[in-house]
Amino acid sequence: MLRVLICVSGGGTNLQAIIDAKAKGELGDTEIVRVISNNPNAYALERAKNAGIDAVCVSPKTFETRDAFHEALLAAMDEAKPDLIVLAGFLVVIPEIVIKAYRGRIINIHPSLIPSFCGTGYYGLKVHEAALERGVKITGATVHYVDEGTDTGPIIAQKAVEVHDGDTPKDLQLRVMEEAEWVILPKAIRMIADEKSKALLS
Ligand code: GAR
Repeated sequence: MLRVLICVSGGGTNLQAIIDAKAKGELGDTEIVRVISNNPNAYALERAKNAGIDAVCVSPKTFETRDAFHEALLAAMDEAKPDLIVLAGFLVVIPEIVIKAYRGRIINIHPSLIPSFCGTGYYGLKVHEAALERGVKITGATVHYVDEGTDTGPIIAQKAVEVHDGDTPKDLQLRVMEEAEWVILPKAIRMIADEKSKALLS
């Protein structure tokens, strides 16, 4: 069984897509063991609680130093004994101690077709604003492994989405979520769970 830990910062619609996929039996042999938020007001924490998932907040504001926050974050992750950490709209730069401890076992969803509109400063609505400003006709979403860089790890899955004339950043964000993010993130988790099951059988 694949023990999945999900990190969130905001609304948690990607978390909801994962919870719904799990409820429909679409995630293979997985269990969502914990949700961690850096933001105490994240609606994603409510979504986790409503689904009966252990949900904790580790807020940087409650620590005197960034290092202390990073250590607490790692401790909250370790406690859940995850096989896979999913960054589902987690707007914290992942500290090196976490990458070292979970190398090759952290995945992220990014709301563009990497390598476009990614890297430092590209998150949330800013990604869609930049895509519209550049005038691209196609955008999308990417699931990738997390390494020391920002959005630089190996790509696992991508899905393209059309930009429509007159789209606002919010219109585009919603279409990218509905058509791409909520589809490819659960699928990537399923793929990793299936690989683990196969490895256990062989
Ligand atoms: C999603 O669009 C996700 O791709 C993005 O934040 C949003 C979170 O929404 N992540 C990034 O921009 C990471 N660089 P959600 O809380 O409703 O899932």
